[in-house]
Amino acid sequence: MDLRGKRVLITGASRGIGESLAHAFAGAGAVVALVARSEEAIQTLAAELGGAAHPADLSNPTQVATLIQRVEDEAGPIDVLVNNAALGTPGGFADASGDELRQVTEVNYLAPAELCRQAIPACFAAAAVTSSISPLGQALSYSPAW
Ligand SMILES: NC(=O)c1ccc[n+]([C@@H]2O[C@H](COP(=O)([O-])OP(=O)(O)OC[C@H]3O[C@@H](n4cnc5c(N)ncnc54)[C@H](OP(=O)(O)O)[C@@H]3O)[C@@H](O)[C@H]2O)c1
Repeated sequence: MDLRGKRVLITGASRGIGESLAHAFAGAGAVVALVARSEEAIQTLAAELGGAAHPADLSNPTQVATLIQRVEDEAGPIDVLVNNAALGTPGGFADASGDELRQVTEVNYLAPAELCRQAIPACFAAAAVTSSISPLGQALSYSPAW
């Protein structure tokens, strides 16, 4: 896939797989928009890769609601959305508190769903893709070509 000039939004880009994906997409010529709570980490990475940092807490529906608009106002329509950010669930399901359950649901399901919902119209127009790699988010994977 030719990614030169493609605008790629990657959540959870401050470390781990998201950081590696940011390097890979930028190395393939894409313009990356990096999302995580760790502002300094994504600003440093964005400066290194020639992209942009968009700090956001994906457990906060208000911040999620405006994220796509923030990115598109700065860079234009998103071609590729990578829903990578996710919270692990170290304990047993029944041992989790109500707050933990709500936070996991916000970050791993509702935020990817909302970002897909908002990004898909522009992706459709460009025949581009959205991709979710978090466990619950996989249910939202979408590509008009598949
Ligand atoms: N590692 C594996 O072996 C493995 C295997 C299968 C699937 N996966 C999936 O791959 C993805 C990444 O895994 P990883 O191991 O790279 O994870 P990780 O090292 O724990 O990184 C998680 C990323 O998500 C961000 N994040 C967490 N909560 C957030 C929130 N509330 N708002 C915004 N960003 C948030 C973190 O940034 P901040 O803390 O700065 O916000 C961080 O950049 C996950 O979806 C995971 O389920 C991983």
